[in-house]
Amino acid sequence: METRKAIAIRKSVRSFTNEPISEEQVQELIAAGSAAPVGMGAHQTVKITVIQNDALIEELRNLIEKAAERTNFNPFYSPNLLIIVSCQDDPSARGRDISNASCVVENMHLAATDLGLGSVILWGCIKVMAELPDIHELLQIPADFVPLVGLAVGHTTEAIDKAKADKKFLEVNLIH
Ligand SMILES: Cc1cc2nc3c(=O)[nH]c(=O)nc-3n(C[C@H](O)[C@H](O)[C@H](O)COP(=O)(O)O)c2cc1C
Repeated sequence: METRKAIAIRKSVRSFTNEPISEEQVQELIAAGSAAPVGMGAHQTVKITVIQNDALIEELRNLIEKAAERTNFNPFYSPNLLIIVSCQDDPSARGRDISNASCVVENMHLAATDLGLGSVILWGCIKVMAELPDIHELLQIPADFVPLVGLAVGHTTEAIDKAKADKKFLEVNLIH
């Protein structure tokens, strides 16, 4: 069982090379994301957009840069692959959408680690992305879906083989 190793060495990687990600690796990431647990089994409320098109990644970067009134803004870190998880906006299930998106994106983050690929979860820029007027068309998602979280993925020169020396852990209350 290699799962615990992937969990232990997982880290956020924010620098990528130009080396393309193979179709097999893309399919592994999609399989990991789409196998995630989904609240109430409502799989139809979650969509994964996988963008391998450099021109579209650049267009989205440009639009976010303008919307955020930033310059030289590179929130995706120039990845080979940009994955966006979107969920149906349902006020009666507030929180479930974010939880679902988190499960999906973490599965893909761990799968990327297992494949030796660098990846980083994205949120701030996705929040800006969600407000872009043409975002549903650009991501090919229905009008009542909202992009909630992203994953930038690529080959990296960073070693992904052991836990970071400065790895932080959560405080735990152990109640017996
Ligand atoms: C919900 C969430 C949102 C995040 N958003 C961003 C982001 O927008 N940009 C970024 O560079 N990293 C983002 N990260 C990565 C965190 O900064 C990173 O996980 C944290 O610093 C711990 O480092 P580690 O992942 O290497 O253990 C996000 C992580 C999570 C879980």
